[in-house]
Amino acid sequence: MMGMSKTPYSPDSFEVSKRKMDHITLTPKSTTSVETVDMRFDYEPLFFTHPGDHETWQSTFLGFEFNFPFWVSSMTGGIEKSHLINQNLAKLCGEFKLGMGLGSCRSLLDSKDRHADFAVRKYLGKQPLFANIGYAQLEELFQANKFHLLHEMVDSLEANGLIIHLNPLQEWFQPKGDKFKLSPLNTIKTFLENVSYPVLIKEVGQGMGPKSLKALLDLPIAGIELGAFGGTNFSLLESLRSSEEAEFKKPFIHVGHSAHEMVEILNALPTKGKEFIISGGMKTILDGYELKTKLSAPSVIGMASTFLGPAQKNYETLREHFLQMKEALLVAKKILNLKENQ
Ligand SMILES: Cc1cc2nc3c(=O)[nH]c(=O)nc-3n(C[C@H](O)[C@H](O)[C@H](O)COP(=O)(O)O)c2cc1C
Repeated sequence: MMGMSKTPYSPDSFEVSKRKMDHITLTPKSTTSVETVDMRFDYEPLFFTHPGDHETWQSTFLGFEFNFPFWVSSMTGGIEKSHLINQNLAKLCGEFKLGMGLGSCRSLLDSKDRHADFAVRKYLGKQPLFANIGYAQLEELFQANKFHLLHEMVDSLEANGLIIHLNPLQEWFQPKGDKFKLSPLNTIKTFLENVSYPVLIKEVGQGMGPKSLKALLDLPIAGIELGAFGGTNFSLLESLRSSEEAEFKKPFIHVGHSAHEMVEILNALPTKGKEFIISGGMKTILDGYELKTKLSAPSVIGMASTFLGPAQKNYETLREHFLQMKEALLVAKKILNLKENQ
């Protein structure tokens, strides 16, 4: 057959023979059982093309343009290691047009020494960057009549807004944790009367129930980050840090609401123009895709721990990790529809 080049399908191609051999040897390990089928989605191969390298999922969140509906949830700042982590996370958000919440910026209220750990605006370009503070500090600032320190902090970070994390159980588990003395609802209400930038409220791994969600929806906030149960859990984390026996505390580690449950609660309430970061236990891209599709209000998928490992290594590792994440999300969007009964 002079003049004909080999195609990848030539029977003598090494790759093809290897693949055919793999098929035979791996078959015994490759059966599924019907109970493992993912019942959340209808699978529609007839309408599918594989996503191209430059394909995006354009959306608007909090008035910002996103190329993919992902949010890097609040994690770190204030220690040596967080400088590189935040820088890498911010670069990712800048390159792929995502949004980012900083980890608790509490240390900046006392001193500007660690300001550089959080000062990542230049890497993000126009993408949203939100500062972060715990409710306990909000309460302290309220009592000291010093909300202006928070406004200055948001300003100095060139942040677009502020996330307040509401974490009573974490504080309770935390050795020397803060105690809440005032009703969070009233303190937050008062803060909102004094604020000119968007505010989000979040939990840190236990989510929130219907009464809290309903009350938050009545406030002039921009949105809610779920911080739901099912992923990183700070009550558990703090209990691991503690030497206390805590026999009576431990059951509280398992208290809370999954993102799935919170989305159902929110869908039954008037969300009043609020937007949502669906976070807490998005273990796979399909979890995020399912809940984003399910929630009627505008949302992005928030993840924290999944970014942490690669962000500690270097930017290339984090970027590679994200390329796989966004490809999986695009495949899901093209080939999976939420079943009607979901
Ligand atoms: C290392 C680490 C540090 C975190 N620090 C903060 C924080 O400072 N402020 C905050 O609001 N949430 C913090 N969180 C909680 C996350 O933002 C998120 O709500 C929670 O981890 C659930 O996300 P995941 O299941 O994807 O990890 C932290 C999470 C991790 C993993």
